[in-house]
Amino acid sequence: MSSNMSKKFNRTLVTAALPYANGPVHIGHLAGCYLPADIYVRYLRSSGHDVKFICGSDEHGVPITIKAKKEGITPQQVVDKYHKIMGDAFQEFGISFDVYSRTSSKTHHQTAADFFKVMHQKNAFTEQVTEQYYDEEAKQFLADRYIVGTCPKCGNENAYGDQCEKCGSSLNPTDLINPKSTLSGSKPVLKQTKNWFLPLDKLQPKIKAYLEQHTDWKPNVYGQCKSWLESGDGLQPRAMTRDLDWGVPVPVEGGDGKVLYVWFDAPIGYISATKELLPDTWQNYWQKEDSRLIHFIGKDNIVFHCIIFPAMLMEHGDFVLADNVPANEFLNLEGDKISTSRNWAVWLHEYLIDFKNQQDVLRYTLCSNAPESKDNDFTWKDFQLKNNSELVAIFGNFVNRTLVLTHKFYDGVVPNAETYTKEDLLVLEELAYAPDKISKAIEQFKFREAVNEWMNVARIGNKYLADTEPWKLVKSDENRVKTIMNIALQISNNLAILAEPFLPFTSKKLFELLNKHPQNWPLSKQTNNVAAGHKINKDELLFAKVEDADVQKQLDKLEQSKQLNLANNTSIKEIKPETTFDDFSKMDIRTATILEAERVPKTEKLLKLKVDTGVDVRTIVSGIAQFYDPEKIIGQKVCMLANLAPRKIKGIESKGMILMAENKSGELCFVSPSNINFNDGSEVK
Ligand code: 2FM
Ligand code: ZN
Repeated sequence: MSSNMSKKFNRTLVTAALPYANGPVHIGHLAGCYLPADIYVRYLRSSGHDVKFICGSDEHGVPITIKAKKEGITPQQVVDKYHKIMGDAFQEFGISFDVYSRTSSKTHHQTAADFFKVMHQKNAFTEQVTEQYYDEEAKQFLADRYIVGTCPKCGNENAYGDQCEKCGSSLNPTDLINPKSTLSGSKPVLKQTKNWFLPLDKLQPKIKAYLEQHTDWKPNVYGQCKSWLESGDGLQPRAMTRDLDWGVPVPVEGGDGKVLYVWFDAPIGYISATKELLPDTWQNYWQKEDSRLIHFIGKDNIVFHCIIFPAMLMEHGDFVLADNVPANEFLNLEGDKISTSRNWAVWLHEYLIDFKNQQDVLRYTLCSNAPESKDNDFTWKDFQLKNNSELVAIFGNFVNRTLVLTHKFYDGVVPNAETYTKEDLLVLEELAYAPDKISKAIEQFKFREAVNEWMNVARIGNKYLADTEPWKLVKSDENRVKTIMNIALQISNNLAILAEPFLPFTSKKLFELLNKHPQNWPLSKQTNNVAAGHKINKDELLFAKVEDADVQKQLDKLEQSKQLNLANNTSIKEIKPETTFDDFSKMDIRTATILEAERVPKTEKLLKLKVDTGVDVRTIVSGIAQFYDPEKIIGQKVCMLANLAPRKIKGIESKGMILMAENKSGELCFVSPSNINFNDGSEVK
């Protein structure tokens, strides 16, 4: 390890945000938090540092109970299902947690309850009776996502009680304009209830002092924290309990029917999981000053990890606080926000079906394109490019040529390096400095830069072979070729070592091809890692090309989601107020046939139709030109309102109205009586 971190700390605990157990894992999760955390941990492990990697499922909170209601199962059934799916996906992508726990576990319930009790004993909470929204039909208080309404900041009509997803503001349910219960759809009433609040307002100076010790945090993280502290009236007290029945029961008197706020219990999950992993020594990571705590998260979790959880830890008093919180921004997909509900995502379990054993391609693409300092876009074209022009054309090509030529020239036995030329020494020097460059970038959480430095080593190797052309020299200068191939093999071996944090599957495979045991991250600048005389294994290709058809298949899948969303989004309007039968029977709705159709000049939407009503032939102007070509609707059977008062539209007298309805894509279609055998003029009643 290169920086001063090794001096101050003897241990590191790395946590990755506990994902909600209410859906499978997609590339946004991976890129935002789990992949960078994994790279960091693998690097530390490989360097011989004492590190533990903690994660698990966040199994409480309103989204889970809502999902359960929707699917007609219990919240426990929801979390059991997704805990397994998520854990498996992480494992398949090589996310090397030391423990993947869950917050419905007994240890966690106990740990979270004890944590709350200690804070309660220390008078860290204020008890407040406040008015909260209550659904009288569902007989339940409406916390967080049980309530929607209009965001007071941006006007989004679908803001949640805890957050507006459009403008990102964090909200209280009572901030919403026109609140509506998501349980019954009814308008909630205000009802008094007691909850325990963390007085963040009073803790503000302590939190500020803590943040000021960490001006080295990533600018996006530090900046967001500062703006929280400085915005409006500063920090406000926040309720740490909820009137719900799913979660960790409030363990103090008066807590009946209430649970801990999900954002209170979830980060304590990091402690519980460490306890499960290390029942006897977990304290070393949480209660010793020489242990370093690092939280990897996505940007929507910044306030909870940089303000609320540290405040809880300070008030509790027995734990170390995070030394860094490297949060990433968001990853978009093909120019649009990733969304579970709109199925606008690349799901890891689906990726594995389409790209079998190609986890490292996704890891590489996501890392080299990670949303480290701003939101970034994942596109399938770019995925193809990264694979074909970097993994295949540079790294794969270099390694493959090296292995193939070693077999061809020397039967797979590593030749001796004879005399180094200036060119060789330059390459060896670059090779010697590569680990340091990569280390430094990783330690600064610059994973894009780190993986690019790794690919640079392959670039150096590729160029070296292209410049020295051993395949030509082999006939004229055998000794020179031995040196070249020896160096190419050293480069390949170092690539395998340095690939491990980023591409663990490839690193392992390359070591196998080299017939070597995996080696740790180099502590010295030594580049000579494969001994002359060592026999390598038979060559195999490390990466295959991604074809245009593979890309198209993924784009088609996304297009399907888009169409389905359009269909689902055609808004279903509420039923209009009651009408009478008399009113209805005043309307003369009848069947008719279109005889002629033409565009109304200088308009985009209007068609002039001649219609046979069975009684007469008349003109109707209809706003359907965007949806139908006039020549294609001659003979079309329609329903029409025949006694609508005549109106002049663009100078044409229109007598009646053709009845239309929106299809799933929001296009107007005829309400067509074509499935029945009818005469023009037959009444619809
Ligand atoms: O945003 C989320 O998915 C949360 N479940 C993250 C929780 S992180 C931690 F506090 F557990
Ligand atoms: Zn908003």
